[in-house]
Amino acid sequence: MALLPVSAVVDEVLSALQSAAQVMLHAPTGAGKSTWLPLEILRRGGLAGKVVMLEPRRLAAKNVALRLAEQLGERPGQKVGYRMRNESRCVPTTRLEVVTEGHFDPSTAARPDARRRLAGDPG
Ligand SMILES: Nc1ncnc2c1ncn2[C@@H]1O[C@H](COP(=O)(O)OP(=O)(O)O)[C@@H](O)[C@H]1O
Ligand SMILES: [Mg+2]
Repeated sequence: MALLPVSAVVDEVLSALQSAAQVMLHAPTGAGKSTWLPLEILRRGGLAGKVVMLEPRRLAAKNVALRLAEQLGERPGQKVGYRMRNESRCVPTTRLEVVTEGHFDPSTAARPDARRRLAGDPG
């Protein structure tokens, strides 16, 4: 695939994630925020824990999980999964979870220990 616009800032995003609990990336539709950046973050390693992606609409959440998994030659329920009301395709080894609103806990993301895990410090 040709380089997507977000690939130009991935280094900057990753280094920002090492030092800040919250990082905001604002980029136009189609830039690669949903279907490229999370896989690239996982591919590069260096961040412990999972990537959790909030996608408020169920259909959009499933579609994005399908597309993400497809790029790994998989189906949702392996490295990429999704969680929503009455439906879950995640396994303990899932590294990237696409979740709808009710399954996203912002307090987890904001916790200092969650931040350390994100930064790759198991302590
Ligand atoms: N299922 C798909 N099949 C083929 N190309 C896709 C699919 N989903 C997204 N793309 C393409 O990948 C690029 C990045 O899309 P996306 O990650 O959804 O961008 P963003 O989340 O920043 O709006 C776009 O060019 C989009 O058209
Ligand atoms: Mg998107």
